[in-house]
Amino acid sequence: MKQVYIVYDSAVGGFANQINREWAKSGYEVLGMMAIPADEEHKTLATVDSIVRALLGAGAGRGTLLLAVGGGVTTDICGFVAAIYKRGMAAEYVPTTLLAQVDAAIGGKTGVNFDGVKNAVGVIRLPQKVHFRSEPLASLPAAQIRSGAAELLKTFALFDEQHYDEAVRLFAQLQAASYKGTVVTDALPKIVELASLAAKYKGKVVAKDLFDTGKRHLLNFGHTFGHAIEWWQSTEEGSAALPAKYSHGEAVAIGMVRAAELSEKDGIAAEGFAQKLRADLKACGLPTELPCPQEKLIPAILNDKKIDEGGKLDFIYLKRIGKPVLKKRRISDITL
Ligand SMILES: NC(=O)c1ccc[n+]([C@@H]2O[C@H](COP(=O)([O-])OP(=O)(O)OC[C@H]3O[C@@H](n4cnc5c(N)ncnc54)[C@H](O)[C@@H]3O)[C@@H](O)[C@H]2O)c1
Repeated sequence: MKQVYIVYDSAVGGFANQINREWAKSGYEVLGMMAIPADEEHKTLATVDSIVRALLGAGAGRGTLLLAVGGGVTTDICGFVAAIYKRGMAAEYVPTTLLAQVDAAIGGKTGVNFDGVKNAVGVIRLPQKVHFRSEPLASLPAAQIRSGAAELLKTFALFDEQHYDEAVRLFAQLQAASYKGTVVTDALPKIVELASLAAKYKGKVVAKDLFDTGKRHLLNFGHTFGHAIEWWQSTEEGSAALPAKYSHGEAVAIGMVRAAELSEKDGIAAEGFAQKLRADLKACGLPTELPCPQEKLIPAILNDKKIDEGGKLDFIYLKRIGKPVLKKRRISDITL
């Protein structure tokens, strides 16, 4: 009989129990279930340690499947455990946040934080399968949906104009209704449909460049400035200046508008393109303006791990929605 061990985010215990029943019914022996606290403080080797102990205690072997039910923290940790347990067991994910559905669970990047350094330890290893379910999204706070929506819109902005337009309409409608009542419930199947399509686009890019040395850089659209904003808001100055921190998706949304402005400035996109993208993201409730003068972000951009020896990085422009353009650029070229 096939065996599975389920590790789940303690915030989605009810849903994990449902998954347990479903897998047991479909012919799996469920060796055990383990809840983990899913936050950055627990995304550590100590949690990896406790999962490995639980697997050993339950008698899991290399042939046992590790099933992760949770957001990106849970899938990143479990993907790493699966890669190292008895030299590698298969993993499958049931992502329970929109961000994990469109991004974290897709592409094989796994790992944990170490000594405060994010994702300092990890490997790249694809899960065997990712299961898309709408039920867990019902309990996600609106801010979490918006953050995932930003990554979803990023993917469609890169590859698919028709679904970009569709997604903008959907998330703008949710935003206009303040994410209240049946509007959200009714939208869940459509959100998951769009999420799995966005995940497919990411999967296609990843398949061509699993180890992130070239084509996969396309997915960094909006991330050069997005990462810099995330860094700045964690500095003393940034945290004092901002009433609340931007989520990853919000920071990426601002970065996308910046990249669109640069696309216009460099003659890659037509005039008015950045304004359109800004208006779309704003309608979806996402921020679009830099929270600080650009020069404050330069130290973080200079620190970008993707800068080569020649001082250049792959910067992602858009010619228009659905048409990305990758160019090697110096930092001085991507600042206005
Ligand atoms: N591997 C990758 O390629 C990749 C890409 C992007 C992000 N990440 C990682 O993903 C993590 C962020 O992922 P995330 O945003 O999914 O966050 P997360 O896993 O931290 O979940 C966010 C919060 O939502 C809760 N939660 C999860 N599912 C829920 C649900 N259905 N209802 C209510 N609450 C729920 C969690 O308990 C947590 O408090 C980061 O650690 C980041 O490094 C990885």
